[in-house]
Amino acid sequence: MRPLHRLLVGFSLALLTLTLLVGTISAFAFLFPEASNRSIPFYMLRPMHVSAALFWIITGAVSGILIYLPKVYPFAQPSPRVERSFVLLWLSTIGVIFTAYAFKKFGGREYWAFPPWLGIPLLVAWVCLLVVYFRAWRSRSDSPLYVWMWTTGVVAFLATFLEQNLYHIPWFRMSFLRELTVQWKSNGAMVGAWNQMIYGTALFLMVRISGDEKLAKSRSAFFFYFLGLTNLMFNWGHHIYNLPTNHWIRHIAYAITMTEWILLVNIIRGFRAKLASDRKYHYQLPYRFLAASEYWVLANLVLALFMSIPAINRYTHGTHITVAHAMGATIGINTMILLASFGYALKIDRLGSALRKNIAKYFVLVQVFLVIFWLALISAGVLKAWRETVLGMNSFDEIMRPVRVVLYLFAIAGVGLFFSMLPIIRAYWLALKQLGQGAKNVSHNTIQQPMEEQPN
Ligand code: HEM
Repeated sequence: MRPLHRLLVGFSLALLTLTLLVGTISAFAFLFPEASNRSIPFYMLRPMHVSAALFWIITGAVSGILIYLPKVYPFAQPSPRVERSFVLLWLSTIGVIFTAYAFKKFGGREYWAFPPWLGIPLLVAWVCLLVVYFRAWRSRSDSPLYVWMWTTGVVAFLATFLEQNLYHIPWFRMSFLRELTVQWKSNGAMVGAWNQMIYGTALFLMVRISGDEKLAKSRSAFFFYFLGLTNLMFNWGHHIYNLPTNHWIRHIAYAITMTEWILLVNIIRGFRAKLASDRKYHYQLPYRFLAASEYWVLANLVLALFMSIPAINRYTHGTHITVAHAMGATIGINTMILLASFGYALKIDRLGSALRKNIAKYFVLVQVFLVIFWLALISAGVLKAWRETVLGMNSFDEIMRPVRVVLYLFAIAGVGLFFSMLPIIRAYWLALKQLGQGAKNVSHNTIQQPMEEQPN
């Protein structure tokens, strides 16, 4: 792996660690506001945690695309300078964003709560990424489906990023409702953009692990792509549910969201059913992370189906059920696929057997803690909605009394999640170091090696 890509992967893993750390601190800050308000209050920790989470997902997705692109397009003309510009600009801007947060300098809008001018280097970096991407893309006409998904994702990210920044134009700020609608809509559509990048990577991994290129050419895979595209364009409807809009917009959006997930499960199922056992053995760990993402898709699908019933959504909106939905998808689906992707790229199945056993052990613990974490959030949401609406309570303190007990469980499960993910991240770091040492030995011996490949 090239040093630039190792830097990207290492930085992404650092972002994942930061997400887990700040998330855990936020959970306790919410429970003990008096103590946290003296140093750093929840309302500051929350945007720090969410920004770290979004940057982990987006940087992780882009890392995979840049690492796998030369494998898909071996004859493409590389653009090393533009690629270096993207990586350095993107990573240093994220560094400045977290330094600004550390000095309590906030701004912007929800999820992107940093001083707005920092959006400019992020935008320039993304344009550099598009240049690198499309130069490679031009070199082959019969691009497989996962490439189309990556392409859609990187282009749609640019569009939704620009849309999120429309509030700089005064006309959008003249009406609160208008500004909120554009913000929520663009945030929802951006989820569609990174899902295209990440699901594309999941499909790439499935093809590589199974050795069956047909997976990316099957009818259901193409149907899935077009459905994903429709999703990207229309699923934001459920993000503006509480704003005054036509009912049919919400209903269509929900129906589309559900079908995309059902098809994703279908494709992973097809891959798992056809996978020969020797290949499964070669890629045991990435395979397990991919399989876990399938179960999390199913779990989130059930939750989303309930949340989509308008009568239920009226009460659940804004409760911890929404948080369960957001973290269930970003941890259970996105993070699991990204860990599968990094595991494949870092060849974790070639680590020593003690380390591999360790990853397998902590993988199980991650799933157990994530289930408790997720169920605790749902229970907190149900309890709050029930006390508020069925029991008709008005006092926030009274409503929250039993909810807080459940939130303790959520916070403890969060600590468990953090400490069970750390050994996995550490093992990935060791694999990254090993790859770096391997590359150094190669250059010391001045032997020209062909580009490293995973066994097929
Ligand atoms: C890979 C790990 C994680 C990811 C990707 C992630 C992602 C997210 C996202 C996207 C949100 C925003 C939810 C919304 O707007 O509704 C959020 C909120 C939050 N997360 Fe996490 N999270 C992670 C780990 C954790 C952990 C380990 C904890 C510890 C308990 C935690 C605690 C929280 C809290 C307290 C909030 C704010 C909830 C609120 O506003 O009431 N997160 N997280």
